[in-house]
Amino acid sequence: MSIRNKLILLMLALLTAISAVLALLFLHSELASISSNSRKKNIQVLLAMAEVCKESRGANGKSYAYKYFKTFLKTPDIALVSCSDGRGRIFMEDRYDTPQQHALPRLFIPFSPPQTGVWETRYVNGAEILSASMDTWNSGKKITAHVDFSTQILYEEMNSSLRKSAADFSIILSIAFALGCAGTLIITRVVVAPIQTMAEAARIIGSGRLNHRIPVNSRDEMGMLASEFNEMADRLKEFDEMKRDFVSSITHDLRSPVTGIELCSDIIKTFVEKREYGKIPEQLFSVTEHLQRLNNFIDSLLEVSRIESGKMTLDIRTVNLEDLADRAVRSFKTYASTKGINLEFIVGQDIPDTRGDPDRLYQVLANVIGNAVKFTNSGSIRVFTQTEPGWQKIRVCDTGIGIPEHEIKNIFSKFYRIRPAGREYPSARQGMGLGLFIAKSIAEQHGGRIEVESSVGRGSAFTISLPA
Ligand SMILES: Nc1ncnc2c1ncn2[C@@H]1O[C@H](COP(=O)(O)OP(=O)(O)OP(=O)(O)O)[C@@H](O)[C@H]1O
Ligand SMILES: [Mg+2]
Repeated sequence: MSIRNKLILLMLALLTAISAVLALLFLHSELASISSNSRKKNIQVLLAMAEVCKESRGANGKSYAYKYFKTFLKTPDIALVSCSDGRGRIFMEDRYDTPQQHALPRLFIPFSPPQTGVWETRYVNGAEILSASMDTWNSGKKITAHVDFSTQILYEEMNSSLRKSAADFSIILSIAFALGCAGTLIITRVVVAPIQTMAEAARIIGSGRLNHRIPVNSRDEMGMLASEFNEMADRLKEFDEMKRDFVSSITHDLRSPVTGIELCSDIIKTFVEKREYGKIPEQLFSVTEHLQRLNNFIDSLLEVSRIESGKMTLDIRTVNLEDLADRAVRSFKTYASTKGINLEFIVGQDIPDTRGDPDRLYQVLANVIGNAVKFTNSGSIRVFTQTEPGWQKIRVCDTGIGIPEHEIKNIFSKFYRIRPAGREYPSARQGMGLGLFIAKSIAEQHGGRIEVESSVGRGSAFTISLPA
């Protein structure tokens, strides 16, 4: 069942429950008010009757009180009126010959006797009678007024007024219920529409159209959800582009050494056919270089997968960072001098030995120094060590291409490379963007970190900090 239908059902159930409670409350208060009105009216009749009896005592048949006495029986619910003296002798009486028989009312309202006067229920000819009497005094003599009410007519009157109010109430309730239903439909539409839009957007993005976005029309929870959804779609698109870049760069990185090896072997074949064996070693040297690149590439990929699965282990030994830096600098000297750059290790104060995995730390230094040489075309690269309380640091400062401020946070992500605009850095194209990711992971596993300061066109400074 759709959310909309569930909401509609829920709200209808709520409306019905509220209507039922309102109807019960209304019925209860209406019953109480009708019953109390009837009681008041009956008391008034009894009081009036007492007055009439008092006035009629000793008056003649034409007196005003006597005429008034006669009018009592015109009220349909009164079956008998009488006045008696202190000895119980009736001096005035009027009654219906037979109390009217009525069918039992459909809605039965219990009648509670009032406090004023004496009230009792009796049966006359099978009809229920509510009998009320009240004493009054005239010139020191007791006079008793007596009124018989037909309870069936009382009930009928009460029931008919209850039925009328109930009919009015049910009309109002029906209108309110209809308005509630209309409101329910509108509310569910308003609430569910954004959810449907989102479901549709999820379907479209799921089908691969990653450019689809949801319009954000409000600032409420739905608006927030829509903008979160759009941000998620942006990230998905980014990942998709990264994946595409990654596949194309990996294919390229794999293909270029393989193509190189293919070319070399073709050339070697030609030399063999022409019996020019002297030229073969040079080609074999190229093959070795291509194989070396391929090997490095596969090693880096394996390294990344080890880091990500948490399986990279360190072989911790005593290590001296100064020795390590000196060794790494020397291994890049030739490469730097072919580019006409001055790469030097500046010897400072002696730094004490520390603990770490020498091979891994050498890997970190080799990547940072290798990057410095790769991205510097003129000037110099200076490597030196520093000590700070609790830390040993190696700084690699170059005068190379520099890194734009907004890219600094990205260069440690795997497969991330900044593509230099010109052609001055051909070797930059050969990297895979894994070196710094691996270096950072190794430094972090030693409890250290790598920080960068850089200025585009002026150079960069990488600081590797390790706990002393
Ligand atoms: N010293 C530097 N000067 C300028 N840019 C740098 C420097 N070091 C790193 N970068 C930028 O950071 C990117 C990521 O460096 P990283 O070492 O991870 O990859 P790479 O050197 O391109 O490839 P790999 O190390 O996998 O062979 C580089 O592609 C480069 O754009
Ligand atoms: Mg690198």
